[in-house]
This record gives sequence, structure tokens and C-alpha cells, in this order.
Amino acid sequence: MKTTIRHIQQKKERGEPIAMLTAYDYTSAKLAAAAGVDIILVGDSLGMVIQGHETTLPVTLDDIIYHTRTVVRGAPETLVVADMPFMTYQVSPEQALLNAGRAMQEAGCQAVKIEGGAHMAETVRRLVQVGIPVMGHIGLTPQSVNQTGGWRVQGRSTSEADRLIADAHALAEAGAFAIVLELMPLELAAAVTAQVAVPTIGIGAGPHCDGQVQVWHDILGLFSDFQPKHARRYAEVGALIRQAVGQYVEEVRSHAFPTEAHATHLAGEVAALYAPAPAPQPATEPASPATKAA
Ligand code: KIV
Repeated sequence: MKTTIRHIQQKKERGEPIAMLTAYDYTSAKLAAAAGVDIILVGDSLGMVIQGHETTLPVTLDDIIYHTRTVVRGAPETLVVADMPFMTYQVSPEQALLNAGRAMQEAGCQAVKIEGGAHMAETVRRLVQVGIPVMGHIGLTPQSVNQTGGWRVQGRSTSEADRLIADAHALAEAGAFAIVLELMPLELAAAVTAQVAVPTIGIGAGPHCDGQVQVWHDILGLFSDFQPKHARRYAEVGALIRQAVGQYVEEVRSHAFPTEAHATHLAGEVAALYAPAPAPQPATEPASPATKAA
């Protein structure tokens, strides 16, 4: 059964934590869905972890649509949220409607995420009115990294904390179905979570949110440019890949791969027309990685 925004709301009401994770392609979406992820976010973090930019700002709507399509194909039963890129929704509610509409129609996602608090409430209201579910995003909003002066925790002062609480209320009242709380003190995230009726999804906002979101590459040890404090590495997939690819390169160079077992033979009359190819050295099946390690 496909997960919907209603299921996500019910999870908050039942006190069941919501597990959200980013994914950017068919294969990882399939793995995330098989692992039981509730929501897949096609985040504009792809600008950094897929495209190699320093920030999320260069990501385009076409980029998000392309990646979201592949994710939807890999996880057809999962709630997939497309992140609206910088300057595709801030100009006016009309611009947001047209671009979020494109994401929904062309990529097949079920919701969009936009950054910003009370000043985006009117846009959220208009999107929800036409049937586009919206996830809000407050606290550290990466598209404003030039304004905030870096990836800094938000809401440390009373005035900032009050503003963030007011932002959360404004988004919930405008109809956002969930709100991402990024990089804020856990006490503030707990207060927001207690005060708003819609689920909060934290990243670097402590354990009291209704759910958590992390970036695929961070939790799998795939991204070594920097390691955020809020992420836990559940595997060292990057190291595993380096080791496996290194072994492949070595075996190609030493003719240990491929062997006859990875090829096909000509048969019958055609086979007779061709002389047997000289056997590469060595021609035997190499020890499996497990045997080698033993
Ligand atoms: O783009 C992204 O991956 C995000 C999450 C970090 C919330 O916005």
C-alpha cells in the first residue's frame, strides 16, 4: 500500500517515529524502500553529493525532476517528496504553483518541500489549495547559506527562537503536512514539536522531533568532503567501494578477470571457423574476496 501524507500524520498521532532519508536514483530508492523508509526526499543536497557543488544553489528544477523520476520508479509505494530548488518558488505564489506543478506532473512525486517560514505561508496555502502537499523547512535553510554565513545552528537567542516557533505555526496553519527542522537546539525543536499538530522531521535538531531525516551519503559513509555532526555513519560504503574497485582494477591488469566463466563460446559450424583465442594468463577462476580474506 502506498504511503500517503495521511499515514505520516497518523504516525505523529500514534507517537510512531517517522524515518525519512534522501535518495537521488532508482537503485538507492529501491534499497531505501526495501529498508522501510517512510518518506524519500529528493533533496537539493544532490547539488553537493551528486553534482559536487559547494552549495545547493546551482540545482535546477530540471535536475530535481530528472532525479525524482528515477526515485519514483524505484520506490513506487513510498511517499516521495521533491525539493524545490533555489529561486523556483520564492518569486511569487504563481511561480511556485507552476514549478511545483511541473515537479508533480513530470516527476510523479506526491509532495514538494520548500524552505522558509512565515514569509512562505501564503505560497504554502496556494499550493495546498490546488492539491499540492507541501513540506515546510525552517531552522538552517541551506538555500540561504549566503545570508546565514554558513551552516550554523539557528534559534539560539530568544528572538530567533520566538521567530522559529512563529514560523512553524504559520506553516502549519497554511496547510504544510510536515515541517523539517534543521540545525536548531533540541529544546527548541521539542517545543515546536509539542506546539504544532503536524509532524516535525529533524536533522541536527535532537531526538524529540516526530521523525528524522538524513542524507543518504552521510549515513552510508559515501561523502568524505565533510562529516556533519548530526549524522551517524551506519556503514563505510565508500571504503568498501574503494576496496572492491581497487581489486577489479588489479584483476583486469593481471588478466585475472574476466575468465572463461564470464564469457560465451561459439557453437557448431561457426565455432569451427574460428581458431581458439589464446588463453590469457592466468586463465583460472581467482579466489573469491571471502577466500582471499580468510
Ligand atoms: O536537500 C536536502 O537533502 C534537505 C534535507 C537535508 C532536509 O533539504
